[in-house]
Amino acid sequence: MQKLARPPGRIVILGYGSVGQAILELILQRYEIDPRNITVLDAIAHPIFKARHENSGIRYIVKRIDKTNMENVLIQLLSPGDFLVNVSLNIDGVAIVRWCLENGVQYIDTSIERWPDEPDELIPDLSQRTLYSTHQEIRQACKDFIGRGPTCVVTHGANPGLVTHFTKQAVLNIATAMGVQFNPPQSREEWAQLMKATGTKVIHIAERDTQISKYPKRTNESVNTWSVEGLWAEGRAPSELGWGTHEDPNGPQGGSLHDYGPGNGAYLYQPGVATLVKSWVPNGGKYNGFLIQHSEAITLSEYFTTEDQSFRPTVHYAYQPCDGAVLSIHEMRNEQLRFHRRTRILKNSIVSGEDELGVLLMGHGLNAYWYGSQLDINAARSLVPGESGTSLQVAASLLAAMTWAMENPNRGYVEPEYIPHDYILRIATPYLGNVVGVQSDWTPLQDRSTLYGRKWNENNPWSFENFRVY
Ligand SMILES: NC(=O)c1ccc[n+]([C@@H]2O[C@H](COP(=O)([O-])OP(=O)(O)OC[C@H]3O[C@@H](n4cnc5c(N)ncnc54)[C@H](O)[C@@H]3O)[C@@H](O)[C@H]2O)c1
Repeated sequence: MQKLARPPGRIVILGYGSVGQAILELILQRYEIDPRNITVLDAIAHPIFKARHENSGIRYIVKRIDKTNMENVLIQLLSPGDFLVNVSLNIDGVAIVRWCLENGVQYIDTSIERWPDEPDELIPDLSQRTLYSTHQEIRQACKDFIGRGPTCVVTHGANPGLVTHFTKQAVLNIATAMGVQFNPPQSREEWAQLMKATGTKVIHIAERDTQISKYPKRTNESVNTWSVEGLWAEGRAPSELGWGTHEDPNGPQGGSLHDYGPGNGAYLYQPGVATLVKSWVPNGGKYNGFLIQHSEAITLSEYFTTEDQSFRPTVHYAYQPCDGAVLSIHEMRNEQLRFHRRTRILKNSIVSGEDELGVLLMGHGLNAYWYGSQLDINAARSLVPGESGTSLQVAASLLAAMTWAMENPNRGYVEPEYIPHDYILRIATPYLGNVVGVQSDWTPLQDRSTLYGRKWNENNPWSFENFRVY
């Protein structure tokens, strides 16, 4: 494939886990870069690095970054014009982005993390344990770098990240199919108005992962197709969603609206791994997914709020992870959500299945419409040997946003909604398997069981309560 860019400086990849391994392969495939200008830093020595890249010239440093050494470590590895790819865990997102902005270093990550000595146990106020709160904090900390300073893109993996661009493409496709008259949206308000014109009420980040391993999960072992610890951390946090204007203005049952900030978010008084919602994907069909907190629920719902506040969609994740991860979550709940030290990330042992990841927009003139990527394990391996449907979806999105950042090096602090969706999709799509848009007649009111006398909101069929699984 054609090269995308010649990076002007060095690239440092922080974290060589599931995603770090995949993005390194894409950087080598698509950038004109001397491998000696690439450094990988990880708290542990991953044997797979030796197997793939021994004697390649790429430097591998074994070091754990913490509060006390972060600045010293980064200053030794990075100068103005260089690029930091943060795909680690437990490094404070605000602190590391600020360092990059102040030191002329371009930056990208796929989630905003906190230092490990600031666990949820030390944050009694549930509202402060949300990504709504984190986004307020990081925006405040970076407010002097909006539109100026080295381009630092936060939360640009598959989800959050790619799904924002899928959403924009889906809105365009729905509006076109409905015969809505529009010019291509040029601003946030025009995007919000276009979505409003389609009648969209709810957006699910609808993901079903059917990849299975030839080695079954063992008792008291946690497995997943991406970070086990990452899923644990977000899964134990409160369920969180963007709260649409068609919902009860008092907020969700068993939850609250925030009383500070832009007011687009809601959270439940229970963890994501205890909250199931009904959703739908084209190949996997209808399924029950976990409503786990994710940045896109906050940033997308805010982006698509009209200026007059008359319209906002409800936005949240509905995630059915791979079979082994579902069982791992179940065991995690046996132990009051404590972390299992025995973990395994599935890649080489996967024998079949796909990661079907997209956005399901509902309530508009087509009823429901899913747009996204269906990437099965064989397609993923033929594109990048050794990778999975999951790791490649994340890495493809990272590669696209890194390339955009290199072409636009002085944009300062950037969230995915402020990057052109067509640019990202053009670069990412070749790595995403089937990228499809599919209309569906599915609604959460299908297959209503009357066994337990549950009341359904017939007057407001797309209300959040109708999606919940009790
Ligand atoms: N947005 C998305 O679509 C998406 C998808 C998958 C993962 N993620 C996020 O990307 C990050 C990486 O995910 P992954 O699946 O590769 O995780 P992983 O657990 O496979 O790998 C993380 C790596 O970081 C290293 N690490 C952790 N803390 C470190 C520290 N303090 N100093 C140095 N190295 C450290 C670990 O040793 C490990 O090798 C996580 O934050 C995860 O939540 C986002």
